[in-house]
Amino acid sequence: EKGGYDTFMEKEINEQPRAVGETLLGRTDESGALVLDELRIPEEALRRVGRITIVACGTAAYAGMVAKYAIERWTRIPVEVALAHEFRYCDPIVDEQTLVVSISQSGETMDTLMAVKHARELGAQTIAICNTHGSTIPRESDAVLYTHAGPEVAVASTKAFLAQITACYVLGLYLAQLRGGSYADDAKAVMAELQEVPAKIEALLGSLDRVREIARFMADTRAVLFLGRQVGFPVAMEGALKLKELAYIHAEGFAAGELKHGPIALIEPGQPVFIVVPGPDTPHGLHGKVVSNIQEIRARGARTLVIAQEGDDAVVPFADEVIRVPRTSPMLQPLLTTVPLQVFALELSTAKGLDVDQPRNLAKSVTVE
Ligand code: BG6
Repeated sequence: EKGGYDTFMEKEINEQPRAVGETLLGRTDESGALVLDELRIPEEALRRVGRITIVACGTAAYAGMVAKYAIERWTRIPVEVALAHEFRYCDPIVDEQTLVVSISQSGETMDTLMAVKHARELGAQTIAICNTHGSTIPRESDAVLYTHAGPEVAVASTKAFLAQITACYVLGLYLAQLRGGSYADDAKAVMAELQEVPAKIEALLGSLDRVREIARFMADTRAVLFLGRQVGFPVAMEGALKLKELAYIHAEGFAAGELKHGPIALIEPGQPVFIVVPGPDTPHGLHGKVVSNIQEIRARGARTLVIAQEGDDAVVPFADEVIRVPRTSPMLQPLLTTVPLQVFALELSTAKGLDVDQPRNLAKSVTVE
């Protein structure tokens, strides 16, 4: 049932092109416009939404963080991301104009379920982004947008994460189209670009031998840092989480701009640091700012493991290793930049002889508070 792979995680990493493709399937009409009939919330109510709160835990919460950047950019609706267990007990500001979007692979995470129930009591409209048909969270929500990643068995989430991000993009583009803002006209074009991503993930998966090699040489590493900016920031945190979960290595993800405000103190000779570099066409010159960050930490002796787009030569002088990802537009990059970090954690865990699919102390779905 592992389809020829040694572990479920490896299988699921390799199923990601399909997970993304299936999640996009059937969500556009012949003209390329988005159709989400399944949402079952009246269009009028969706047009009136004044704010969005995303509730989730773990990896799903990082998908929510990516969604915040995309949905705010495309719809201009303010989006907040709350860890579900914090949301429930912080007297959240929620009313009838609030759309609460939960993200959960299993649909059974108790913390997330409680947050959804609480939001409904407060009068919010609730949408579940979920991978498991007929599970509890979709049943307790007003509407559901299913991710079609297929069953995920490995405890550490991989294909469900990319499918969640994909579903969030779809929701954001749909809302943009519905509300007719300045991005409404672009929704089709972004959707068309999304359709090209599965093939790009496929190509990327075939090019990661060097990442595996790096990981195998790092089995004795005690700490790894991850830097990212804008949508690369949650990717950095997800990369760190994967390494904690699978290889029991202390790992932390930072926003690259935060480096000088503290984390740079951790840089000493030989410290491995992954840097998720935004594409050169990212607005506000963020690419150049992150390249400067790489330069700064390299000057202090860090070992820089740089994830950068094909053709981005600016990173080369400051990189100990360059891991290339195919080009896509800046907002969609997490669907690609996450993949090498998953493979890195998988390979390092394997090199340490650990149980990749069943890491210690973790459960696939936590059904207690
Ligand atoms: C954790 C799992 O306990 O729950 C994570 O180990 C997962 O992998 C998180 O991201 C949330 O789970 P779900 O099913 O709500 O997406």
